[in-house]
Amino acid sequence: MPESIWASRPADIYGRRKRDRLYTALWGLGTMLSGFAAATPWTPSRVVPVVRTRTAVVTKRELITPDVVALTFADVDGGLLPSWTPGSHIDVQLPSGRRRQYSLCGSPGRRTDYRIAVRRIADGGGGSIEMHDAFDVGDPLVFEGPRNAFYLGGDEHDVLFVIGGIGVTPILSMMRAAQQRGMNWRAIYAGRSREYMPLLDEVVSLAPERVTVWADDERGGFATSDDLLAAAKPATAVYVCGPTAMLESVRAGRGQHAKAPLHYERFSPPPVVDGIPFELELARSQRVLDVAANRSALDVMLDADPTTAYSCRQGFCGTCKVRVIAGDVDRRGRAGETDGEMLVCVSRAAGGRVVIDA
Ligand code: FES
Repeated sequence: MPESIWASRPADIYGRRKRDRLYTALWGLGTMLSGFAAATPWTPSRVVPVVRTRTAVVTKRELITPDVVALTFADVDGGLLPSWTPGSHIDVQLPSGRRRQYSLCGSPGRRTDYRIAVRRIADGGGGSIEMHDAFDVGDPLVFEGPRNAFYLGGDEHDVLFVIGGIGVTPILSMMRAAQQRGMNWRAIYAGRSREYMPLLDEVVSLAPERVTVWADDERGGFATSDDLLAAAKPATAVYVCGPTAMLESVRAGRGQHAKAPLHYERFSPPPVVDGIPFELELARSQRVLDVAANRSALDVMLDADPTTAYSCRQGFCGTCKVRVIAGDVDRRGRAGETDGEMLVCVSRAAGGRVVIDA
């Protein structure tokens, strides 16, 4: 015979075991629930991942030069998109699973829709081609962000913007902000010809007297660092976004005389500086790759497996971060690489072999 709940009922604080109605009800309920709980197998609560991506809908698709498409997209429910500052970028998740970063090039802070522009690169990693081909008006576009790694300084009042081709995308919103803030700004926009310079009309119409257009086919060649920096005084802050050759030219031209910072953003990986060859062992796939002195670990991994994850290729987004199992890593990234991690787009081995969890 089962034991009565009364017999097992503990005494109250006074040692009494009388039939208190409320106590009886609570005790009975507790006993029932504990029996139910004991009979029900325990399953850990599911961890619901934090969703950081957002799905928008493409509202406009324009070919703004023969090789650049501009996509405008808005919230699917007509709401406001997250706030952003000039120089911000988003991470687009492509239907193939690739991730690519694109700067927002609409009016600064505009939240009713975003605009990005993408140059089609025939011999790139395939992301730009997919951006051109995969999206039309009405299609969903999944993205993360915005984030900003290329700020317009709030205390700089004398500014020169140096733009190369598609490098116009983060700079255009900065120029608009500089104009709104009443900053003393100038810009030089260089490209092979006006036809291939995206958003040129918007750049020039902002303040024609402040903008120099350098079309190589009109000027008879590339702009030199002297040409690019002609409007820069030592105390002028310089913002540059364009091909690596342009950036290196501006960096060299700024030299030691500058008293104001040089801010830059690249659209291509930085060249490897002071690299030494090393071996990269991929523990999971059991392969050993040779990384030459002038190549990044990511490039070599992409040769072996084109689906290797990456985005910025400059060490700041963290997409390519892997766990290090053994070896000394020469950490060169900016995306918070800890001891046991490696950003394979920029970081290298200090020599010998590095074993990674890949
Ligand atoms: S790809 Fe962005 S940190 Fe390596």
